[in-house]
Amino acid sequence: MTLPRATILGLGAYAPPQVLTNEDLARMVDTSDEWITKRTGIKRRHIAGPDQTTSDLALIAAQQALEAARVRAQDLDLVVVGTATPDMFFPATACLIQDRLGASRAGAFDLLAACSSFVYALICTSQLIAAGAIRTALVVGAETLSRLIDWDDRRTCVLIGDGAGAAVLGPSTGAFGMYGGLVGADGSAGDVLKVPAGGSRMPITVDAIERKLHRAYMDGQAVFKLAVRTIPGLIHKTVAQAGWTMDQVNLIVPHQANLRIIEALASQLDVPLERFVVNIQEYGNTSAASIPLALYEAVQSGRVHEGDRIVLAAFGGGFTYAACAWVWGS
Ligand code: ACO
Repeated sequence: MTLPRATILGLGAYAPPQVLTNEDLARMVDTSDEWITKRTGIKRRHIAGPDQTTSDLALIAAQQALEAARVRAQDLDLVVVGTATPDMFFPATACLIQDRLGASRAGAFDLLAACSSFVYALICTSQLIAAGAIRTALVVGAETLSRLIDWDDRRTCVLIGDGAGAAVLGPSTGAFGMYGGLVGADGSAGDVLKVPAGGSRMPITVDAIERKLHRAYMDGQAVFKLAVRTIPGLIHKTVAQAGWTMDQVNLIVPHQANLRIIEALASQLDVPLERFVVNIQEYGNTSAASIPLALYEAVQSGRVHEGDRIVLAAFGGGFTYAACAWVWGS
């Protein structure tokens, strides 16, 4: 029996309507449009309304992806949500949207690899399809980082935004689909990006809240260096695993954390910046949602054509990283 190759059948994305500009932030903390633009490339970010949760964002992106794929929710075998900001510890956000979608046949779980969660989930789910264990799956990257951030900390609050992106996966009918996928982690660097309180190590207490330990802490320069040191090699290995050379790659969709990181990747890989998808100016860093949001926009704007070779590359807290290589089409 020939096993199928998994491919993306449809995409969806959603960003909440409320926008926070650099000028808005300059009225909240000691920062400026000039500093944020020069150091990060970010101009605006979308922030979830007080009544919007991660599953609300995820649901809209998921419905769009199912419609684009022409797949009915009840035909899904699996729902996976990549997120570091679930609605609650449990039930998983994937279970919440499985119910709201009516995906009654599907298994459902969340996957946590911080900003790399969507690409981790895409690779794992594609392998399940390729192994014949499941046929059709929904993979979502959704975050409301605005709920985790300290809005008085200018080092982190200027970077983040909320959003969701989704992909419906199924077996390819041709030579389309995933040709390579690699995941990795360096747990020894876990301290550079973390939320110290709220888990079993430090349950939420008044003292933890007063010390803001339930908020995200980040050593920005350390994250920057880890990304620039790790991701070029990861992309090279993923492209080699697919059996391609770098100049055969039409488009790279990197995690949108900082424009300077993307520029450093382009320079190290010796790939022109024009072959990278960049939308950080509009959304900031949306963690697990950043790559599906960027891929969705690239497809919608006509930048992606059937048969194109595309590489997705993510990194984030953990320290985690993941990349996968696709021939676009279904
Ligand atoms: N506005 C104005 N000044 C600021 C701001 C701000 N928003 N933030 C920091 N500064 C100041 C610092 O205090 C420092 O001042 P000092 O020189 O007087 O001490 C100066 O600017 C330089 O700070 P650096 O940290 O050295 O600035 P850098 O060029 O490294 O840029 C940044 C910081 C943007 C955070 C960068 O390191 C980065 O993007 N790193 C990667 C971040 C990332 O990818 N994070 C992933 C996930 S984000 C999350 O989940 C929270």
